[in-house]
Amino acid sequence: MSDYIEQLLEELTNAPGPTGFEGPVRAIVRRELAPIADEIATDGLGSLIARLDGPGGGPRVMLAAHMDELGLLVRRVTPEGFVKFQGLGGWLDQSLINQRWTILTSQGAVLGVTGIKTVHVMTAEARGKVFPRDDMFIDVGATSAEDAEQRLDIRPGDPVVPESRFVPLAGGKLYLAKAWDDRVGIGVMIEAMRALHTQEHKNTVFAVATVQEEVGLRGAETSANYVSPDIGINLESGVAGDYPGITVDEAQEKLGKGPAIFLHDISMLPNLKLRDLCIEVAREAGVPLQFNVLAGYGQDGAAMQRSGSGAPAINIVVPTRYLHSHHGVIHRDDFDQAVTLVTALVRRLDAETVTRVRAFD
Ligand code: CO
Repeated sequence: MSDYIEQLLEELTNAPGPTGFEGPVRAIVRRELAPIADEIATDGLGSLIARLDGPGGGPRVMLAAHMDELGLLVRRVTPEGFVKFQGLGGWLDQSLINQRWTILTSQGAVLGVTGIKTVHVMTAEARGKVFPRDDMFIDVGATSAEDAEQRLDIRPGDPVVPESRFVPLAGGKLYLAKAWDDRVGIGVMIEAMRALHTQEHKNTVFAVATVQEEVGLRGAETSANYVSPDIGINLESGVAGDYPGITVDEAQEKLGKGPAIFLHDISMLPNLKLRDLCIEVAREAGVPLQFNVLAGYGQDGAAMQRSGSGAPAINIVVPTRYLHSHHGVIHRDDFDQAVTLVTALVRRLDAETVTRVRAFD
């Protein structure tokens, strides 16, 4: 049974928004937050900043989620009409090959495929090897460089986005789609703002949809400078470790067991007073909370944390399978509970609590 949230998540994940080319996602976020926000602005890099005023000012609480997804960029077209590309974001070579892609030209979308040589002509040794990305190309059906450039309008620098459509799995609560990283965070942020708009809170809340996270938290850096947050709450796709081939020491989240907070990733250590507050708020709200201690990963919370003279930050996530590929999976209950948690956490924050969290002995 599809409801408006499922439809919003479908629209958000189907929207093309590779790193640096987040326009279609920004339009959705603006449409959803403009009727709610007291002010909407963009910074000089393209992040969208929606401010929601509580009564009488209050601490500056920054929510952030990134709009960009992994993509590619056209490098050149070969004389035979095949498109060579540059990767945008952290792709595995295995995830790039034999997939559908959309090239976003100034004249519109052009579909293509990263073809792979057929197994019939491969040696036994070649069959066991990973196909390296430098050998890859996108076949758009062009007959020559002129055909690709003149008829299809493909130019160097055009962004390329994975082609993959939202679909519920087994007709139920698992949602299969591209770009959960980080459209799931964008969805949580929109729904938390909708809830905060109708409920009492004592903060100046900034919901920031950032750009260019996947190439180094670039939009979070500039937008955090714009906001100057007292507290940073980042909303992300988490790392589920509940399928074959991944171990519980690599990732501890499971789908359907609630949202999680990161206690370590390579970019950030969370503020432990914020961690404890989050645990307390989750318990009171009846939200199951998971934890993840990751050896890798990076996220926008790190940029908020290091903005100005520093701000306590935490990263709240919705567990996600198969990140950084054409196809990820989330659980709808985890999404709904993340919205409940983030809303309750912001409502719990006030001048006194923020002063306590920001205090160091
Ligand atoms: Co992300």
